[in-house]
Amino acid sequence: MAENVATTEKPYFPGLEGVVVAISGLTSIDGTLGKLMYRGYNIHELAQSSTYEEVVYLLFNGDLPTVAQLDELKQTLSANRELPAQVIDLLRLMPKDANPMAALRTVVSALAFYDSESEDNDPDSVLRKAYRLTAKMATIVAAFDRIRNGKEPIAPKTSLSHAANFLYMLNGEEPNDVFARAFDIALILHADHEMNASTFAARVTASTLSDFYSAITSAVGTLKGSLHGGANTNVMKMLLEIGDEAKVEDYIRTGLANKQRFMGFGHRVYKTMDPRAIVLKKVSRDLGERAGNLKWFNMSEKIHDMVTGAKGLDPNVDFYSASTYYMMGIALDLYTPIFAVSRIAGWSANVIEQYEKNRLMRPDSDYVGPSERSYVPMNQR
Ligand code: ACO
Repeated sequence: MAENVATTEKPYFPGLEGVVVAISGLTSIDGTLGKLMYRGYNIHELAQSSTYEEVVYLLFNGDLPTVAQLDELKQTLSANRELPAQVIDLLRLMPKDANPMAALRTVVSALAFYDSESEDNDPDSVLRKAYRLTAKMATIVAAFDRIRNGKEPIAPKTSLSHAANFLYMLNGEEPNDVFARAFDIALILHADHEMNASTFAARVTASTLSDFYSAITSAVGTLKGSLHGGANTNVMKMLLEIGDEAKVEDYIRTGLANKQRFMGFGHRVYKTMDPRAIVLKKVSRDLGERAGNLKWFNMSEKIHDMVTGAKGLDPNVDFYSASTYYMMGIALDLYTPIFAVSRIAGWSANVIEQYEKNRLMRPDSDYVGPSERSYVPMNQR
């Protein structure tokens, strides 16, 4: 093996930390204060008072909707929930043990075949596709789950909100108001998050002037990873593995000694508790109290205290969403697809922004391989 040489002294930012790749009017984060805002609106106020539909409108159009604008948006979303029959057939062809994020990624890609505008990058067309896919993501996830469990997919109900309709399509019965609102809050909290890895992936794909469906397919594949959206499922696996509040201390002490990476903790940008985790912590406690089962919340809180105390790492959005979804009876491996059901709004808004003011994303690397050498014929190697 020839000696490796660095040819240049280019500035290098591992993980692109601190590198600004877009000028955006969408979402801002103050990592020190633990503040998150969509178009200037604080996430705490949005989680308290808005709905996912309002947030979609806000992200796509720049301002909160009027009553008439919200009505129109709700109609657009509910009219676009159904999946093409070929896509349902595709879901039926998938292995029953397929990773749901792989299924979602495949279906998002396949939907391009059945959208006559799929290759059109005109702004109005991209916005129409953004509404269509935002409406369909929930249907894909619910239909996949039912089919893999040997059940028939349930047709969406236009009278229900986005959140309530998802739970209805998943479970076959309309959710109570508490679950519907808890899920709506989770959707609000996950809708956008500045230049996270999956959003960046979507923007990179859009920057080549590839189409909307390709950009979102890239994003879904990127969210799947355990350092990103995949962490929420792993948090619940950890809680189930520990199994009992009395065993938390031992588990965390052993993990600390083994330098374990605790899922749901730490963040590239937040240096304090993720504001979304603050909201979800309350939701998780509330659902536990209502069900008379605080086991998962109490375990989570104990882990939170120990990991933060020992490592100075705070929970991120994925930590308390795990026990929240568990209390709603949702299958563990759907937690990350649910993230995508919400984040489609942010991905879409970012793709629209990228097309509006595009420059090809083409970073650089610093070559440290062998210096120039002569080709060696096969019989001399
Ligand atoms: N548990 C234990 N140690 C951690 C954790 C963690 N969850 N997170 C960071 N650290 C430690 C690292 O081991 C490292 O220590 P070292 O310098 O002694 O080696 C140091 O903190 C810095 O870690 P990096 O991985 O370099 O930090 P980065 O900013 O790249 O990571 C990340 C951010 C990936 C989120 C990280 O905190 C992590 O792996 N968390 C667990 C996975 C997770 O919860 N992901 C969801 C993030 S939110 C979202 O995407 C929706």
